[in-house]
Amino acid sequence: MNKILITGALGQIGSELSHAFNERYGNENVIVSDVNPDVNGIYPENIFEQADVTDIGALEKLIQQHQIDTVIHLAAILSAKGEQNPELAWHINVNGLLNVIKLGIKYNLDRLMVPSSIAVFGPQSTLYNAPQETILKPNTMYGISKVIGEMLGSYYFRKNGLDFRGIRYPGIISYKTPPGGGTTDYAVEIFYEALKTGHYTCFLSSEACLPMMYMPDCVRATIELLEADAEFLKHHGDYNVGAMSFTPEDLANEIRKHIPNFTIDYKPDFRREIAKYWPASIDDSAACADWGWLPQYNLEMMVKDMLMHVAEKLNIPFSLKQ
Ligand code: NAD
Ligand code: SER
Repeated sequence: MNKILITGALGQIGSELSHAFNERYGNENVIVSDVNPDVNGIYPENIFEQADVTDIGALEKLIQQHQIDTVIHLAAILSAKGEQNPELAWHINVNGLLNVIKLGIKYNLDRLMVPSSIAVFGPQSTLYNAPQETILKPNTMYGISKVIGEMLGSYYFRKNGLDFRGIRYPGIISYKTPPGGGTTDYAVEIFYEALKTGHYTCFLSSEACLPMMYMPDCVRATIELLEADAEFLKHHGDYNVGAMSFTPEDLANEIRKHIPNFTIDYKPDFRREIAKYWPASIDDSAACADWGWLPQYNLEMMVKDMLMHVAEKLNIPFSLKQ
């Protein structure tokens, strides 16, 4: 791993992962790219290249020009946006990925990392302690595109020896860059509304329990899998990884420990149907065994850290109650 390209780098995960990569691998070795040209001060230290992952010519130019040997492919349309425009989700998530895979084989990349998601599970999956191996028949276009991504990873590993790696990320919670149109976005929005207005109207139902992860764990998991010794990896693009699970009501109760007057009500929309067939919790024993995965943040720690950072960002005076 000498030169790393991150696609979709302006998004929620890319904008933080890239900074961790700078510290670890040197900013001159991390090339960041996105279809969106609006870098807005996120990357003063990196070379930024605008590129659409559905344009294989543009991607190839980047790989040649910067002698890229590792790609972290984050460009995607997330679940809720994907249900509003399924063809676009297919085009970017599947055709964009195929472009990256083709180039990965042509340029003999050291590694290609592509996130999967808890969205691969569906109505026929085991949804409590969702196993590494279970029936994967998701009912969203986003979920379908992620199952296909996992399968393509295994296929091209067998056929061409492509070192394809990926994690089924839970809902990621962070404060630096807003989430990009997913079903778990409520778990970020709630902090802003709690601090600004003391009230949040949730688009999921109160009992929708989903696996979630705080960004520092997400970044660490990604780096740990990226650097793991290939000979110990029994899976490719589909590692289950857990950290915490909670319902909107659990999260509201935890926030209320620090903002006692905080209130929440529920107006579920189409995203409730998406969440209904995602797991409540995850069995991540394969990730623990193969590359030593261990989360650090639980609900209580994440809520405290989010409240402090979001308050600072909003310039709202705030202190934790305990
Ligand atoms: P995001 O929506 O915040 O960012 C995606 C980025 O991709 C955006 O900056 C967007 O401009 C860019 N993009 C969209 N179309 C593009 C194209 N055609 N070419 C180049 N760039 C394009 O997403 P994220 O949350 O950072 O997610 C990154 C990856 O992690 C995705 O594969 C996503 O499916 C996966 N994931 C995220 C979560 C989560 O909770 N954030 C959970 C599970 C999996
Ligand atoms: N957080 C993502 C979403 O809700 C899960 O992949 O779409």
